[in-house]
Amino acid sequence: MTTETLSIFSPKAAAHFDALVLKYPVKRSALVPMLLYAQDDIGYLSDAVIEEVAQRIGITPLDVRNVATYYSMLRFKPAGKYNVQVCTNISCMLRGAYDVFEHLEEELGIGHKGVTADGVFSLEEVECIGACCWAPAIQVNYDFHDDLTIEKVDQVLATYRAKAKGETANA
Ligand code: FES
Repeated sequence: MTTETLSIFSPKAAAHFDALVLKYPVKRSALVPMLLYAQDDIGYLSDAVIEEVAQRIGITPLDVRNVATYYSMLRFKPAGKYNVQVCTNISCMLRGAYDVFEHLEEELGIGHKGVTADGVFSLEEVECIGACCWAPAIQVNYDFHDDLTIEKVDQVLATYRAKAKGETANA
């Protein structure tokens, strides 16, 4: 499949995928990076995404699913605009990660893998995000927030709420 063929991805992502499959001696090696970029482009791994990725790599959709289900950062349902990932691994857990997680559950009114009714936030409990020295830490999309207290969590939420409001107003 090339960018001239009908693709469900944005032209930029489709062109990137055309190049990505040529980068590796074995096409299949492009699978995980392609899934990550595909998720960024579409928001989640829908059936149509899996179908096109399978075609591009030259494997079956079942092969794609078998790999994708192994990775917790890949999702099969839409997330919120801001996906809040709370690390509850050992360093974070010892420094209050569950208090942070429970506070976020209360504030957002959702649990693990939940999405708020307005679609602004989703919440996930995740394994180590590599910020152990600054525990407890959370990741919102690609941004890290660390050395957290409940007060800091409230500030982080307020910042994203304001951002979401601003984006809606400017839309
Ligand atoms: S244990 Fe939480 S970031 Fe590593």
